[in-house]
Amino acid sequence: MDVLLTGRWANDEEREGWADALRHAAEVAGLPLTWWVDRGDPPPTWPDRVEVAVVANPPPGRLQGLPKLRLIQSLWAGVDRLLADPTLPPQVPIARMVDPAMNAAMAETALWAVLTLHRGFHHYAVQQRAGVWRQRAQRRADEVAVTVLGWGQMGRAAAARLAAQGYRVRAWRAGGGKGGAALTHAPDGGPLDGGGTVQVQVQVQVQVQVQAGPAALPALLADSEIVVNLLPLTDATRGLIDADFLARLPAGAALVNLARGGHVVEADLLAALDSGWLGHALLDVFATEPLPAGHPFWSHPAVTLLPHAAALTDARSAAAVVVENLRALHCGEPLRHRVDRQRGY
Ligand code: NAP
Ligand code: GLV
Repeated sequence: MDVLLTGRWANDEEREGWADALRHAAEVAGLPLTWWVDRGDPPPTWPDRVEVAVVANPPPGRLQGLPKLRLIQSLWAGVDRLLADPTLPPQVPIARMVDPAMNAAMAETALWAVLTLHRGFHHYAVQQRAGVWRQRAQRRADEVAVTVLGWGQMGRAAAARLAAQGYRVRAWRAGGGKGGAALTHAPDGGPLDGGGTVQVQVQVQVQVQVQAGPAALPALLADSEIVVNLLPLTDATRGLIDADFLARLPAGAALVNLARGGHVVEADLLAALDSGWLGHALLDVFATEPLPAGHPFWSHPAVTLLPHAAALTDARSAAAVVVENLRALHCGEPLRHRVDRQRGY
């Protein structure tokens, strides 16, 4: 089976690292593949027999002229940029990246963000720079209501981690009914003290209230001290976090955006921060990335930002996820993590 690797990369090393990791994972799986790595601009012509494109948001048009293409496998979890290519071959199935290691990384970032906001660690960082010694009121985690937008791979992992930490967690999804969901959060074991390795199994049962559909959102927002966005960017979710959304939050609430910049109307967010209605925004993703120099977010006192680093795809684990789908295709088994083009995720 011939496989094309194509995409936009931070640099040549990143691309070659992926090529090596994928080749290695295919070898380990015993899957006979011929790899074609797109290093060209303008793109070379690929052989007619290419059946799979493994992609990292390739430039629009890159997947044209592949008559035997049977699968587009994304290395990214979010496929909004991929689906925005109007030349994407219409009948070819698309699978996205779903990697437990990535979900775990996202849960860590969500936990860091919520802990920071709940305990005011971002204020202490400012105080340190100003040489101020002042303790803030300390609240319990169960006094803090957190809403996670999205109940998918990322949303569930984040909600489970936050609920296990003691926060009052609710989640919001598109459909699928409403009600409570029990999740099991199992932190890693580790050595307790000196003298060898100790296996520790910790299982925590947590409850998350899940609400579905647009009608449920206003009441959820009205009772949310912290909102963590983990939605996919689709026609239905673009610009969701606008002036109306922010006005429904209680005064002093905080926004954590770990999904896509396109979910937020930046001018509305800045207005809510400037007026003091929104207490803080912790942002990992932006309408334009990298965030342009001079953008107000860089220096806003109520903004903490990350360079789209909430959950990076780790080639070490993700390559095996890709190869497992290639194996399924090769063996005529159902593909995993299919994208519904109609829904956009
Ligand atoms: P997923 O498994 O497809 O889950 C998507 C969730 O969003 C589902 O629960 C879905 O509801 C819900 N949803 C979709 N449209 C909705 C709507 N209109 N209203 C309410 N809920 C809606 O996706 P995922 O793997 O969790 O990833 C989510 C997003 O995270 C990605 O698309 C990407 O943009 C972002 N991401 C960011 C980073 C980063 O480093 N910053 C890394 C990875 C991913 P249903 O369950 O009812 O279908
Ligand atoms: C990162 O943002 C991804 O979608 O994988």
